[in-house]
Amino acid sequence: MTGGLIDRGSRRVGAGSSERLRVAVVGAGYWGPNLARNFRASPDWDLAAICDLDVERARSVAETVGGTPVTSDVPALLRDPAIDAIAVATPARTHHPVVLAALEAGKHVMVEKPIADTRERGLEMAAAARSRGLVLMADHTYCYTPAVLKIRELIEGGVLGDILFVDSVRINLGLIQPDVDVFWDLAPHDLSIMDFVLPGGLDAASVSAHGSDPLATGKSCVGYLAMPLECGAMAHIHVNWLSPTKIRQMVIGGTERTLVWDDLNPQQRLSVYDRGVDIATVSRSTAPDARAARVAYRLGDTWAPALPEHEALSGVVAEFAAAVREQRDPRTSAESGLRVLSVLEAATASLAVGGAPQPIAAHTLEEGFAR
Ligand SMILES: NC(=O)c1ccc[n+]([C@@H]2O[C@H](COP(=O)([O-])OP(=O)(O)OC[C@H]3O[C@@H](n4cnc5c(N)ncnc54)[C@H](O)[C@@H]3O)[C@@H](O)[C@H]2O)c1
Repeated sequence: MTGGLIDRGSRRVGAGSSERLRVAVVGAGYWGPNLARNFRASPDWDLAAICDLDVERARSVAETVGGTPVTSDVPALLRDPAIDAIAVATPARTHHPVVLAALEAGKHVMVEKPIADTRERGLEMAAAARSRGLVLMADHTYCYTPAVLKIRELIEGGVLGDILFVDSVRINLGLIQPDVDVFWDLAPHDLSIMDFVLPGGLDAASVSAHGSDPLATGKSCVGYLAMPLECGAMAHIHVNWLSPTKIRQMVIGGTERTLVWDDLNPQQRLSVYDRGVDIATVSRSTAPDARAARVAYRLGDTWAPALPEHEALSGVVAEFAAAVREQRDPRTSAESGLRVLSVLEAATASLAVGGAPQPIAAHTLEEGFAR
């Protein structure tokens, strides 16, 4: 981000200003109301408007937050110089035009995951924000949950040791989305979490994807991703819209300890197991059965880190305001959104060739500028 004041069709927002910022939420379907509620409750923001092509939807959401102007006219909303920022919660295929129009109008933007429906469009959005000195933030909501913040802290503090594997399961009876398959709908959560907590982030050269569409919906409803990470760990993600049981679980295994995150168990979301496999350095010549002798199982304690209780989206909207005021990239930047898109795009390519590993493109913003 560049320094100085920003004045591009919106109010002048100075670095370090404590003035409340004015935001409009675009998209009042399933997720938009959660954004509206959190902006309304935030000391950083005034919720200036709710916009949806279906104005009745916008109106019913406005009522739940104590009344806010509503509109179905996105261009008119973007012309309003009193609005500093736009939060986009429309379907993925519409992110690119809505976000580009908002940036063109000089608004800072927060956009839902996946930030775009192709990597190319995501690059264009990120480059547009950067060239205008505006914030473009990805709403990677999970990165603001107490559980994920704690996981990052534990990994950073070396509690797990070197990471050996990540196994993530995100399955339930989900809404079959009209514009994206189950990978693009659900895997952004797992990928953005991995990008946030792992020491090397989402650093992988290739991904293989297997999907199935047993109900002939025209897109994968069940999906598996396998991705060897550059740090040497193996990552696996299972996403599924057809499972009658809901599971939200990530297991991160390390050389020292293994962490299990069960997001549906509020009593014990995180468990750290001091258990694992030690490879003993027994020389082949001295051990009668070298293979058996080299493996030892460690059976230590299990503990549950204490987690504070707060809604992730309150952290999301606070970070968005801080990034605008401090004129810096947010914690979940457009770049993190692009890293997620790069994996998703490679996964789509892998699906098309029956699951063979496909290279994950580099995601430099400079590439976007070169276009
Ligand atoms: N961060 C999260 O945890 C999370 C959770 C759920 C959904 N999402 C994301 O939020 C986005 C929206 O998902 P949803 O389930 O709320 O979708 P939805 O279909 O329920 O709602 C989308 C709304 O956007 C409106 N809309 C569509 N195009 C528009 C446009 N051009 N201008 C204004 N309004 C428009 C529609 O009328 C609809 O009301 C998706 O990107 C989805 O992946 C994020």
